[in-house]
Amino acid sequence: MSIEFFTRLPLHGETQFLPGDPRNRGDWHSGSDSTGAVSNFAVGDHFTYIDYLGQIARAAEINGFGGALMVNAPSGEEPWTVCSLLARETRTLSYVTAFQPYHYTPWVAVQQAATYQRATGNRLVWNIINGGSDAVQRQVGDFSDHDERYARAIEFMDVVKGYWHSENFHYQGRFYQAEGGGLRGPQKKAELPLICTAGSSIAAREFAARHADFYLMRAEHPDEIRTLIADIRERALKHGRSNIRFGLSIDVITRETEAQALAEAKRFFDEGVAKGAVKAVAAHAGLRSARKLSYENEYAAKDETRPFDDFFIYPNVWAGFGYIGIPPGLALVGSYENVVARIREYNQLGIDLFFLAGYPHLEEAYRLGEHILPHFRGERAPLRRIDTQAPALRAAGG
Ligand SMILES: Cc1cc2nc3c(=O)[nH]c(=O)nc-3n(C[C@H](O)[C@H](O)[C@H](O)COP(=O)(O)O)c2cc1C
Repeated sequence: MSIEFFTRLPLHGETQFLPGDPRNRGDWHSGSDSTGAVSNFAVGDHFTYIDYLGQIARAAEINGFGGALMVNAPSGEEPWTVCSLLARETRTLSYVTAFQPYHYTPWVAVQQAATYQRATGNRLVWNIINGGSDAVQRQVGDFSDHDERYARAIEFMDVVKGYWHSENFHYQGRFYQAEGGGLRGPQKKAELPLICTAGSSIAAREFAARHADFYLMRAEHPDEIRTLIADIRERALKHGRSNIRFGLSIDVITRETEAQALAEAKRFFDEGVAKGAVKAVAAHAGLRSARKLSYENEYAAKDETRPFDDFFIYPNVWAGFGYIGIPPGLALVGSYENVVARIREYNQLGIDLFFLAGYPHLEEAYRLGEHILPHFRGERAPLRRIDTQAPALRAAGG
């Protein structure tokens, strides 16, 4: 099977969950011990944190990444704005922008995306998120409950696809209505962004089954990934969709030798523990309330500080980042050779899109580009939609 690599852009600083860490660049770290390597707006030297993100994006495409994932959180830079700012600083990189249906009307999302796609040669990917935590939703003004948000998302994507593929789209739903309307003129040339989504609740899985091109996961033990993939595939088939694919987000700490990689992971771990970083539960605050992953349940149940080695849930798969509160929580830790082997293993389970990143993101984009990505040169395939739904929707849209 094919394989593709994206990276992540850190929209809320390099290591926000290790407060006071001087490697946290720009004004996402405001302590007096900042390295000052990336300036902040306040000092008036005309550079901002967005310039640093631009450097990472350039490094990513120069090193052969196909795209970059950006997380949407109330405590971070807004991703669609960021990718609009960076698109013309990069030539080939795709950007995965996350947003909630709550943030836009379907038409606004369609029109924005069409403009973006035409300007960038279709380099936009959507990650449709629905908020894991009611508390965080309410902070930003959304009082609908968890499952209702997913019901709204299903309609949202029905309407988006309707507007995209029809000039005269009609819809009467619980959340949205449309009487005519749709992309016209040159905007019809734009491609509908590829649709990603995540979430392990039943509602999230059903939304993915109906609408996602890619179902995204945080890394877990391979057995759990296998089970999750089988479940999503089965659900998608019930909606007549055999084309759903899978993406995995995982950090990487890799070095020439196993010992060097372990030493770097341990340094991170010891610093986190010394700073009193909150345990596994922290990784769930806000964004990920629905389900703790199995290893997190296990760690959260224990009060005492656990030793570094306890966090290997599988060879080279280390959950220590989750323990010290750095999302997505798992990292591949090991020599270049072993990390390549683990990626192949996940690839064989059915993952064909990997989101790989390390700290600091800029330097590690080079390391991954020089030592990991070249091993997959002949197997890479740029992302494309395998379309089975559009004709039916076109007919429905008139
Ligand atoms: C790869 C990946 C990326 C995600 N990106 C975001 C994001 O940008 N913003 C967000 O609020 N949640 C994000 N999430 C969280 C999920 O969208 C979802 O809200 C969470 O898993 C809980 O969903 P559930 O309650 O339906 O299980 C991401 C999850 C994964 C696996």
